[in-house]
Amino acid sequence: MEKLWTPDSWRDFPIKQQPTYEDKKKLKKVEKELASYPPLIFAEEARRLKSSLADVANGKAFLLQGGDCAESFNAFNAQNIKSLFQVMMQMAVIMTFSGGKPVVKVGRIAGQFAKPRSSDTEMIDGVEFPSYRGDIVNDIDADFNARKPNPKKLLKAYNQSAATLNLLRAFARGGMADLHKVHKWNLTYMKDHTLGEKYEELATKISDALKFMESCGITSQNTPQLSETVLYTSHEALLLNYEEALTRKDSLTGDWYDCSAHMLWIGDRTRGLEDAHIEYFRGIKNPIGCKVGPSMGEDELIRLIDALNPQNEAGRLNLIVRMGASKVADIYPKLLARVEKEGRKIVWSCDPMHGNVEKASNGYKTRDFANILSEVKQFFQIHKAQGSVAGGIHLEMTGQDVTECTGSTSCNITTEDLTSRYHTQCDPRLNADQALELAFMIADTMKEAR
Ligand code: PEP
Ligand code: CO
Repeated sequence: MEKLWTPDSWRDFPIKQQPTYEDKKKLKKVEKELASYPPLIFAEEARRLKSSLADVANGKAFLLQGGDCAESFNAFNAQNIKSLFQVMMQMAVIMTFSGGKPVVKVGRIAGQFAKPRSSDTEMIDGVEFPSYRGDIVNDIDADFNARKPNPKKLLKAYNQSAATLNLLRAFARGGMADLHKVHKWNLTYMKDHTLGEKYEELATKISDALKFMESCGITSQNTPQLSETVLYTSHEALLLNYEEALTRKDSLTGDWYDCSAHMLWIGDRTRGLEDAHIEYFRGIKNPIGCKVGPSMGEDELIRLIDALNPQNEAGRLNLIVRMGASKVADIYPKLLARVEKEGRKIVWSCDPMHGNVEKASNGYKTRDFANILSEVKQFFQIHKAQGSVAGGIHLEMTGQDVTECTGSTSCNITTEDLTSRYHTQCDPRLNADQALELAFMIADTMKEAR
């Protein structure tokens, strides 16, 4: 018989990467308050995403998941939300146009705050501080007081998520996603002419197609898909007390949903089979993800899939593969072949970011665009060779004009440039030019596969 699950049954299991709060009473009070707040999403939306992800698993759609490594309280403003929305729309039209498949858009946004860390402490200018764990836990400032976990930040994260989601919904439904505005999504800092021109060329083709369709009577008025979209939200569900407080029973089906986001994923450091995160995730009905890093074993992966998706439901489970450009060809083909042979239905996506982190000679944490591109290309090749579906891409990216990842033809960021606009709270992100360059490459690959 299956073991009983409740939203708090994870509390009986070993758990990794959680902050230690000094004031337990204050923490309990905050958890109670959060549990009384409205859900951020509606269960039916999560079911729709699951159904779109089933199309991805079956090769009928493509998943684009992207956003900050860590959202921050300081960088919270309309412009940042808008530019991420725009660059994701640009990438989606590029990939839809050439790939001939709808793109399912999922932001790492409106809740992506908590960060797992490789060590409990970090050295800053020769002083050892407790690690920064994301704005939902503590402050990034190098100050002992600021680094203390503060439960009130859970409430601030909830409120910021609600406001962010509100604006995203307004953009998606209120005209910002209108295909007639495809030229306007082009972000003004686009410096690289080839890339800008390539996008303009595609936007003109779309505009022409719309004009033609209009003369046939297909307009935004009678076909809302032309002017509206859906951008789903997602984050790593690291802090299970926060997720538990937002876990609600759906009144339509009686099932439990984590209503903090449409989709949640488990990080590579917290996917232990006997641990709390697997226990929590098995009980929620949202579409879910799990990172798959180089230490994953074949049997372990099958057991993980069976724990998280016992009914083998298409669209339920997204495995986010993050091996690194130098390892993916060695490790991934065997894992993929085993899972496919055993008939498990999976949305396979490629995270070319987390296996390609390096320290630049000036000490900056960076990722080289060539490695990112190489991992994506290898991912597609591996799937092609095995005749299985390469379902999507998972990126750390921003619409802002940052210099955090080195390389790329469009901006050619050097190690020295990293000092210029390095704004990330955590890991280095692709800027809009780099994200578009990658989207064109993926679009070409999808076109070849058609
Ligand atoms: C992340 O996605 O920001 C992350 C921490 O990834 P991973 O769990 O794959 O290291
Ligand atoms: Co990251």
